[in-house]
Amino acid sequence: MQAVEIKKGIYWVGVKDWNLREFHGYTTSRGSTYNAYLIIDDKITLIDGVKAPFTDLFMQRVASVIDPQKIDVVVCNHVEMDHSGALPAIMRKAKNATLYCPAAGERGLSMHYDTKNWKIRTVKTGDTLNIGKHTLTFVQMPMVHWPDSMLTYVADEKLLFPNDGFGQHYASDSLFDDDRLDIILDEAKKYYGNIVWPYGAQVQKVLETAATLDIEMIAPSHGVIWRKHIPEIIEKYKLWSSYGHVADKAVVVYDSMWGSTEQMAREVAAAWGEKGLKVTLCSLKYSNVSDAINDIVEAKYVALGSPTLNSGILPTMGAFLTYLKGLAPKNKVGFCFGSYGWKKDAQNEMQDILSKLGWNLPEPIVTINWRPTDEGLKALHEAAANVVK
Ligand code: FEO
Repeated sequence: MQAVEIKKGIYWVGVKDWNLREFHGYTTSRGSTYNAYLIIDDKITLIDGVKAPFTDLFMQRVASVIDPQKIDVVVCNHVEMDHSGALPAIMRKAKNATLYCPAAGERGLSMHYDTKNWKIRTVKTGDTLNIGKHTLTFVQMPMVHWPDSMLTYVADEKLLFPNDGFGQHYASDSLFDDDRLDIILDEAKKYYGNIVWPYGAQVQKVLETAATLDIEMIAPSHGVIWRKHIPEIIEKYKLWSSYGHVADKAVVVYDSMWGSTEQMAREVAAAWGEKGLKVTLCSLKYSNVSDAINDIVEAKYVALGSPTLNSGILPTMGAFLTYLKGLAPKNKVGFCFGSYGWKKDAQNEMQDILSKLGWNLPEPIVTINWRPTDEGLKALHEAAANVVK
């Protein structure tokens, strides 16, 4: 396992998790990476670790540059276990190392690991640490992604380590963003929507900080390192964190029992298509909630469809709404529909949740009894078209 030099004397010592397909409810169809970085300076410095099962691979990569016992400084930008899992092994090996993290990080580490023998120094925004040729600057970024989250900046290298910020669950043959930008941006959007969407205000603070820094490379803890397309990802973060959208993007998220609600979903998509929108249809029977969220992030218009099942909606839609409530996206135009047999009002459940999220719901729910008739579809078509007015 060889480390990869990303700047002179600064190495990627992370791990690619090609087989990861699930990350707390998020479907990671392209795997992920846990990026850690090693800075060779007067004080040998490690920025973050990896997930515990990959500790041996990570140690081998560190050892390809330097004996891990020689590490002097460990920076823990984030306590979540995909980054901190290997820290106990590092702190056992590097007996003289001091770990730097915010106070919330110290508390978090002590709740997850036996840290009583660790030398920990807490830092806060604006604190610096000289490690020889380089000086590290720490900036707390609470809730991007946990209360303890922090970024580390190396001014002389114009290098930012923002941990989860700007990350993607994407294992790639390249370490950098040089090729396949469409895939990288799509995975960054999916990551943003599923991991940090609730924390738009906090992300905007990070962007304000980033705007004051000279940045040549952004090295996140997941996915590829940004060096060629930094303006593009910054612009996307501005859009996503302000709950903005691409005006002609729309998505219809639905599930169906015997095809009636699916027919309705296609009618809504047709009506919106005629209005000039680019519409994605997302069936929860075949797509994970995290894929539906990825479709929604940039959409202005979102329709939700479910038939009545007993006295409620289909469990796939129930799970999706639970997930959506947690992510609390704002500033969407919504529309709900569905078929029913003998209980008409189950679709209110969808409308109520969208209403509580503060979405604009210009049209009442449209329901169809048993099977869609030409008349019923025409009425649905008109209602859907009115949403776009
Ligand atoms: Fe990649 Fe919040 O951990």
